[in-house]
Amino acid sequence: MSIPPRFLDEIRNRLTLSEIIGRRTTVQRAGREFKACCPFHKEKTPSFTINDDKQFYHCFGCGAHGDVIGFVMQHDNLSFIDAVEMLSAEAGLEMPKPDPEAVKKAEKAKGLHELMDEATSWMEAQLDDPRNKDVLEYVNSRGLTEEVRAQFRIGFAPADGQAMRKFLSQQGFTDAQMIEAGVLKKSSRGGDPYIFFRDRVMFPVADRRGRVVAFGGRILPDHLRPPQNDPNFKPPKYINSSDTPLFDKGRMLYSEAKARQAAREGHTLIVTEGYMDVIACHSAGFKAAVAPMGTALTEEQIMNLWSMMVDETKQPVLCFDGDNAGRSAASRACERILPLLQPNKTVRFAFLPDGEDPDSILRSAGASGFKNVLEGSLSLFDFLWATHTAGREFETPESRAGLGKTLNKLVNNIADADIQRHYRELIRSKISDSFFKPYTGKKKPQGRAPKTPPLRVQPVANRKDLVAQKILIASVLNNPQLFEGVEEEFGLFGISVPRLDALRHKMIEIFHNEPDIDFDSICTNLKTYGFSQEMDDILNESVYVHAAFARKAPENEAESVDKRGQWMSVYESLGVQTAQDEVLSGWKSALEQSNEAQEDRLRDLIKIKSSE
Ligand code: UTP
Ligand code: MN
Repeated sequence: MSIPPRFLDEIRNRLTLSEIIGRRTTVQRAGREFKACCPFHKEKTPSFTINDDKQFYHCFGCGAHGDVIGFVMQHDNLSFIDAVEMLSAEAGLEMPKPDPEAVKKAEKAKGLHELMDEATSWMEAQLDDPRNKDVLEYVNSRGLTEEVRAQFRIGFAPADGQAMRKFLSQQGFTDAQMIEAGVLKKSSRGGDPYIFFRDRVMFPVADRRGRVVAFGGRILPDHLRPPQNDPNFKPPKYINSSDTPLFDKGRMLYSEAKARQAAREGHTLIVTEGYMDVIACHSAGFKAAVAPMGTALTEEQIMNLWSMMVDETKQPVLCFDGDNAGRSAASRACERILPLLQPNKTVRFAFLPDGEDPDSILRSAGASGFKNVLEGSLSLFDFLWATHTAGREFETPESRAGLGKTLNKLVNNIADADIQRHYRELIRSKISDSFFKPYTGKKKPQGRAPKTPPLRVQPVANRKDLVAQKILIASVLNNPQLFEGVEEEFGLFGISVPRLDALRHKMIEIFHNEPDIDFDSICTNLKTYGFSQEMDDILNESVYVHAAFARKAPENEAESVDKRGQWMSVYESLGVQTAQDEVLSGWKSALEQSNEAQEDRLRDLIKIKSSE
């Protein structure tokens, strides 16, 4: 709907910009103007100015600039129309009447919205019908508690393809309307039209304003509905509404309204593959989760995602299964996103262990396990790099040139010239200076970069493993002279907690700079880097009870105490073997290849493996 410019002027004239902004953030008068700390970037001294006469604001820090409509659009994360609607109410103005054609369309849509709402309520009620007790049990078993069911309006569409039609027609809706709303289908055999969703658990899809515009329906599990003998008849696990006047499958996302709200409140925006994943994320506190509905992520959905975010850097995290299918889905998404990249607008890629989805990870490893997955996510560049270097060697100039060519070809698709240039620079520098230096043997030559532990964190933190990891770090920290003997291995074992991993990383760096450092100095050093809490966490009895050798050695300790041997046996208990196999088999380790130190680490692993 187009709004006459005169109407917009009227809004600007009736409202006082500093007042509207003042309701959202503290403003101070400064002469003829007002000043505030910019609500669009972090700052301590105000560089955001408001000029009521000129009716605009400007931030000298981040360049944010606009009028009252622009301000509420950006601050309240509203569309233009929504912002105008809100402000016109505030200004006591009535929105201009749209043309009659549009009025007719809006009325029709209103009818369809009512229909969808009635249908949703009816299906919600079906779950409470004693005849559908088995379905309710299944729904409960999937963690969809009464509270979650109410939040997402989950329901059940019974097998009887006429029941809902009857109900809706009693409510005054015609078959034509039901067909238009996508809940009723014409019979291809000339029989009665029938309800599209039958014998399925129902997931209503809400639009940005929270109105139901479509449905997804899940089949019941085999134990409730044993599969038919006919192998040719295998109904799809999920079916989704097709496009209707209310529903644009290619633009909307499941749980968009909730996610938009949560993203504004600072939650990480997460894109999953399915309905259940979104709900599981939401229930576990990851409230800004969305999913496309039965299609791969479209360009419009990607733009839509960025529009949901208020942070300066907009980078939703896309979750994929770590298997082959997940990897190629991620590559396809990457290709779709490259042309769309804009300054501060990108995505990250998170990979789940094979065969897992966010719903299953949250069940098995809890919120912290899933958080680890998110924290291990890769930037778009690192993902591209990993994809094209996985399990391959680039020893010759020709192969390096080949790699450069492949990557640059992809990067050609980036429309934003500035971003494209940065990508090219990154590719060049990465290939030329940080990639695959000649292997120089096991012992560290002068100046060699320290080994870096994996980028990707194992999501499932087994308690026993965590204790072992703490022992390995604590013992070296308490006994710095131990480092030299375990140096090789100290960088190799997986650590399930990102902060501990960072602590190890810093320790390696310190030892490399100052090999003879003593306990007190290394502790002071680590504290200045902000690791006090992590040190408290590992340097204590709860760790020492499992391994006395991790304590600080007493002055008079016998030379014969074999700390290194004890350290190695804990290290071996962590199953480093699998990490090595993983390296050789490519992908996961390739995700770790994205910096020089990691390359070195990989080389070492390969070397160890091949000398066995
Ligand atoms: P999945 O097959 O991964 O199912 O489909 P899921 O989300 O893990 O569901 P549960 O846990 O088995 O209940 C992921 C998403 O792909 C779409 C749906 O949107 C689904 O949520 N999909 C899947 C379809 O549209 N049709 C299908 O037949 C299967
Ligand atoms: Mn699932």
